[in-house]
Amino acid sequence: MMIPLIVSTCIHLVFIFAAVSCEKDSIYDILKAHGLPMGLLPKGISRFDIDDTGRFEVHLDQACNAKFESQLHFDTNVSGTLSYGQIGALSGIAAQELFLWFPVKGIGVDVPSSGLIYFDVGVVVKQLPLSMFETPKDCMAVGDFESGDSIPDDDLLAESIAKSQSAKLGHELDQEEPYVERWAKAVVH
Ligand SMILES: *[C@@H]1O[C@H](CO)[C@@H](O)[C@H](O)[C@H]1NC(C)=O
Repeated sequence: MMIPLIVSTCIHLVFIFAAVSCEKDSIYDILKAHGLPMGLLPKGISRFDIDDTGRFEVHLDQACNAKFESQLHFDTNVSGTLSYGQIGALSGIAAQELFLWFPVKGIGVDVPSSGLIYFDVGVVVKQLPLSMFETPKDCMAVGDFESGDSIPDDDLLAESIAKSQSAKLGHELDQEEPYVERWAKAVVH
């Protein structure tokens, strides 16, 4: 029987006639097709748009926090530019570090994969295991961040992270030169 099979593979399917809608990939499928892990975005996405240039907008049911090694905050609206292995011009995601929140400006992975993923928070690139982002996480509802709200400036970030992690980061950066060089170039320009 074909029909039950189709229905079971199309979670958004309401009417059999809407079977064509199955051809529209979910944002998670799109991340995967770009070599990025599906768990970069949490559960609870109400809709999204992406254009030919990779510019995307994702709308969540509500602003929320998801727990990884530390926490990631997602605003109701998240936008950025998707290309293979990388998201740039990101807005609407913040990472918690040392109890402070820092806007994530870009996310990337090595191609071919090194098993690591990188979060560009401006002054430093935070490196985490890719396996942490395999599946979309539950996300606890919180308010949207006001722009600038509890987000310290780059100097404070540099100082606080340098104090706690400079040795570790420095070591990691040396090992992962190709990707970090790409970021370094992006930061300089
Ligand atoms: C999110 O985007 C929608 C549609 O583009 C807009 O109406 C809404 O005001 C935005 N919400 C926030 C919190 O920026």
